[in-house]
Amino acid sequence: MAAYRAADIARELMRAGHTVRVVMTHAATRLISPDTFAALTGNPVVVDVFDEPVPGQIAHIRLAQAADLVLIAPATAHTIARLAIGLADDMLTTLALATRAPILIAPAMNPAMWTHPAVQAHVQTLRARGVEFIDPTYGLMACGDEGWGKIADTPVIVQAVQQRLQRSRDLAGVRVLVTAGPTYEPIDPVRFVGNRSSGKMGYAVAEAALAHGAEVVLITGPTQLSPPAGARVVRVQTAQQMFEAVQAEFEACDVLIATAAVADYRPERTLPLKRKRTARSWTLRLVPNPDIVGTMAQRKGERIVVGFAAETDKALAHAQAKLRQKNLDLIAVNDVLEPGSGFEVDTNRLTLLYADGRIEPLPQMSKRECAEHLIRAVAQLLQAKRAQA
Ligand code: C5P
Repeated sequence: MAAYRAADIARELMRAGHTVRVVMTHAATRLISPDTFAALTGNPVVVDVFDEPVPGQIAHIRLAQAADLVLIAPATAHTIARLAIGLADDMLTTLALATRAPILIAPAMNPAMWTHPAVQAHVQTLRARGVEFIDPTYGLMACGDEGWGKIADTPVIVQAVQQRLQRSRDLAGVRVLVTAGPTYEPIDPVRFVGNRSSGKMGYAVAEAALAHGAEVVLITGPTQLSPPAGARVVRVQTAQQMFEAVQAEFEACDVLIATAAVADYRPERTLPLKRKRTARSWTLRLVPNPDIVGTMAQRKGERIVVGFAAETDKALAHAQAKLRQKNLDLIAVNDVLEPGSGFEVDTNRLTLLYADGRIEPLPQMSKRECAEHLIRAVAQLLQAKRAQA
């Protein structure tokens, strides 16, 4: 039954002014004809990976790049599993891998299937990657069962699409500068003073800002990560280099988000040659590095400046103090000793503290989802600032 609703959804999206391109699975064509969608949307329907409606163009890549948003409705348990694993065994899943557009999924299945741990685990995996779900509703299914699993109502799906598209533009034209990763402060040519930051949080923030339509410059210390597509990347090693890179980019930015775990101290001098091992003890003299975000925020003007606070004790109190001392608009605080929070792991539990005193505790979630919350908060701050001006 949900397959028929896809025609309804396509028509309502067209009415709302969108161009709709339909991709069907082979299973879907047994329930509803591709001709129905072709007639409804005025566009050819693609089913097979080898369908090439326009000769000389590779359909899945062209569709993937042209889409502002990919809506999978109705999504079966099987398709959700294929998406979570990253299979590319038909046109739909291949396109889902090839696109950089946001993906929205409206599941429809038997209630026992929807609540099955296997399906819920795949949903979690996809959510952690930034895919959003339009949750099924409660009702009577075609099979006679009653429960959670009915595809969401058409107006709810259309509204979710509209809101997601809106969000993918709410930072259009906004230039966001993100610092990420650790810094390495050389002791000699082979040793350094550093920390355990992986860069995951900062890269996720850059990715989320891009997903909202921002222009992103990512200034990153050494990490193992590949930077998000679309960001301009400036690679640095030391705090001093990061400071110089931020100074060079700050003028042109509207928002600075400092997620980097900058080394607070560096060796007073770097030895030109590797220091040899001896039996004697060795005292290394460290001198403080510049506070990058604190320095920049003193001359922020109309910019929004956001900091992070990785704490091991009295997290909120320390973060409150940093928010004020560093003249920030927002600080995201986490307790790095808490399991599933802080360095190296893929999850985090943030509390957002605003300059106006608001406190927003967030649940533990993937760093990608934390970043999404943070970027929404930044978009709201910008909006409020612009409304005032
Ligand atoms: O004072 P603390 O190092 O805990 O502050 C953390 C915040 O300040 C983070 O946003 C971090 O990126 C930034 N920071 C910085 N330059 C430093 C130290 C921290 O920009 N030297």
